Amino acid sequence: MDFKSGRHFLQIPGPTNVPDRVLRAMARPTIDHRGPEFTRLAREVLEGLKPVFKTTGSVVIYPSSGTGAWEAALVNTLSPGDRVLMFETGHFATLWRNLAARLGLEVDFVPGDWRHGVDPAVVEAKLAEDRGRAFKAVAIVHNETSTGVTSRVAEIRRAIDRVGHPALFMVDTISSLASIDYRQDEWGVDVTVCCSQKGLMLPPGLGLNAIGGKALAASKSARLPRSYWDWEAMLSTNKSGFFPYTPATNLLYGLRESLQMLMEEGLENVFARHDRLAEATRRAVRAWNLEVLCLNPQEYSSSVTAVRMPGGHDADAFRKLVLGKFNMSLGNGLGKLQSNVFRIGHLGDINDLMLAGTLSGLEMGLALAGVPFAKGGVLAALDYLAGK
Ligand SMILES: Cc1ncc(COP(=O)(O)O)c(C=O)c1O
Repeated sequence: MDFKSGRHFLQIPGPTNVPDRVLRAMARPTIDHRGPEFTRLAREVLEGLKPVFKTTGSVVIYPSSGTGAWEAALVNTLSPGDRVLMFETGHFATLWRNLAARLGLEVDFVPGDWRHGVDPAVVEAKLAEDRGRAFKAVAIVHNETSTGVTSRVAEIRRAIDRVGHPALFMVDTISSLASIDYRQDEWGVDVTVCCSQKGLMLPPGLGLNAIGGKALAASKSARLPRSYWDWEAMLSTNKSGFFPYTPATNLLYGLRESLQMLMEEGLENVFARHDRLAEATRRAVRAWNLEVLCLNPQEYSSSVTAVRMPGGHDADAFRKLVLGKFNMSLGNGLGKLQSNVFRIGHLGDINDLMLAGTLSGLEMGLALAGVPFAKGGVLAALDYLAGK
């Protein structure tokens, strides 16, 4: 009896639920990517992404996952042996560090406890010590999807400016863009890395770089080998509405629709919706007597909440039970958090009742799994949502 009626609850922190409107927009014949209709589509999405990043610079779109966009940011701007300052905020920051090291970059990886974001004071101290200006880039993850901790990008920018350090500033917004306030130009970010399957409400398959003027200038002399990821080839063909190789045409139809949806709702409303759902989630977790992994309330994530499992209970067994019983997928603990946390994704195309259903599945699951907890989390969340 494998049949499951009703909708699957996809409450992992990405890939997120793809709205019906986006699914329908993609269900069209693929067109000639070297024809006139394609150029209109390409121009619309390339322009339409700029306000989402809050940039007037260029955005490039790769047929790739987010990892490709990480690699593109580094290989276009840096040279073998360049020093890069990175911070161990969690699993994804660690993966980006590993990628940078494999490319032949010298990474100074500041250790972290996976419960805090990047400390602006440490950025300032590290850069102040670097009198020879050896660091060529500071690269951080805005929203650590593995921990539910959001680093304070604007404050980190100010820390870099206080030292007057010329390093490029690169930010991974893979689980924050179009969910949590982000401002590439105002915050002086040189390269922003993103992809399609989270706040943009698309299936996986598009990797994005938003490129500032300083990064573009750096790309002229950067010497890391690059071909597929080369900005120059991408930017020059994009000018005429084309791509240097076959683009993910149907995903671009979907992107056009999701950008339209974001503009209809209004980005500030999108952020407020995410803030509100995240607060309701944390109220439920606290009422259950469970612990949110993130320790600093200033760094709570509005797109994902990681919850610590009480000692002696396995988070993966709990997730398996919830999936089997309620047809709901939750995020697993990644890296050193494996089995110790579960993650609730509350980003993308989600509303109050979807969150209420999610929290109900969690509360029933906790009871069935025999996890020690207090009842009332769902009510605490509903009271908050109804009152706000
Ligand atoms: C913050 C962050 N960075 C990078 C990645 C890697 O992206 P992808 O799995 O699409 O390559 C992820 C994936 O979830 C992520 O959450």
